[in-house]
Amino acid sequence: TKRIGVLTAGGDAPGLNAALRGLAKAAQDNYGIEIVGFYDGYKGLVENNARLMDRSDFSGILHEGGSFLRNSRERPFKDEEKVKKMVENYHAWNLDCLVVLGGGGTNKRGYWLTEYGLNVIGLPKTIDNDIYGTDITFGFHSALEFCTDAVDRIHTTAASHQRVILAEIMGNSAGWLALYAGIAGGADAIILPEIPYDIHKLKDHVDKRMKGSDSKFCVIVVAEGARTMEEADLTKKQFKKKRAKEGISAAHRVSEQLNAISDYESRVSVLGYLQRGGSPTGYDRVLATQFGVKAAELLYKGEYNQLVAAHGLDVIAVPLADVAGKTKFVPKDHLAVVSAKQTGICFAD
Ligand code: F6P
Repeated sequence: TKRIGVLTAGGDAPGLNAALRGLAKAAQDNYGIEIVGFYDGYKGLVENNARLMDRSDFSGILHEGGSFLRNSRERPFKDEEKVKKMVENYHAWNLDCLVVLGGGGTNKRGYWLTEYGLNVIGLPKTIDNDIYGTDITFGFHSALEFCTDAVDRIHTTAASHQRVILAEIMGNSAGWLALYAGIAGGADAIILPEIPYDIHKLKDHVDKRMKGSDSKFCVIVVAEGARTMEEADLTKKQFKKKRAKEGISAAHRVSEQLNAISDYESRVSVLGYLQRGGSPTGYDRVLATQFGVKAAELLYKGEYNQLVAAHGLDVIAVPLADVAGKTKFVPKDHLAVVSAKQTGICFAD
């Protein structure tokens, strides 16, 4: 009998429980694989906070948000002692493989563990949809549905009050969620991390709406990682540090900058953690289940050190070595398809 470990790391996202259930049902029922669940992501692997799971542990959780194994952002890789503990605990449980459900960071760390001789399989989870090597991640669709509804609601108030309202949407490195929610919600401008914004260009665009003859309101979607032209060349680390020091969110900053050079007063709504909570959509439940089932098949065949991924409608496996540490940004040609001509949306570049 094979025995595997499983953990959910990084931020939570809708569909984690569905993926765990899909994995467990296929692994236990089809292939007789035993499952050890580690709590709190990599922290549980360090502290050996784990137990052998029963079939019933995975029942009745398909529709639930969060992860019943809980999440943590513990990154125990800088400390050799902790890495040693993770390797020891893996062997103490006699595991054939560790399945990690998480975002770019989680999969990168999973890959690091393969360098210590552990077998690892990654499942791509994040509302950001920025994992390299897969077309789509579970969690994204659920967050998109929520954000679309939120932008719709902001629209109503902006229109009724003839206001400029900025909605801040998650996504520090990549702007998939802001882009899709902005298009789906008919935003007038979308500011993505991939395209540093020029506040004067944004103002010109807002002016056209506020001073023109049509709708005198404006809805702007701002990704959490929106950067000014001056910040364009900062590394991710430098940018994060700068932002933390400033103590102001992206949309608030854009709003301040806009207010300083215009005669209208813009308002801000930061959607925050509401975007990560709640039940997964039907689409995410199916996607997460497919990923889980594929992982079980790879485990059975002994095809380790892979990331389960979606390519078109196919669920496939790509070597962790090829994708670890890379980010899937919104490509420029993708933006061209939804450019101002068709949608009237300004990207403020
Ligand atoms: O990766 C998911 C995500 O929601 C990002 O969009 C966001 O930048 C980050 O997590 C925030 O996470 P936390 O506040 O949990 O550290």
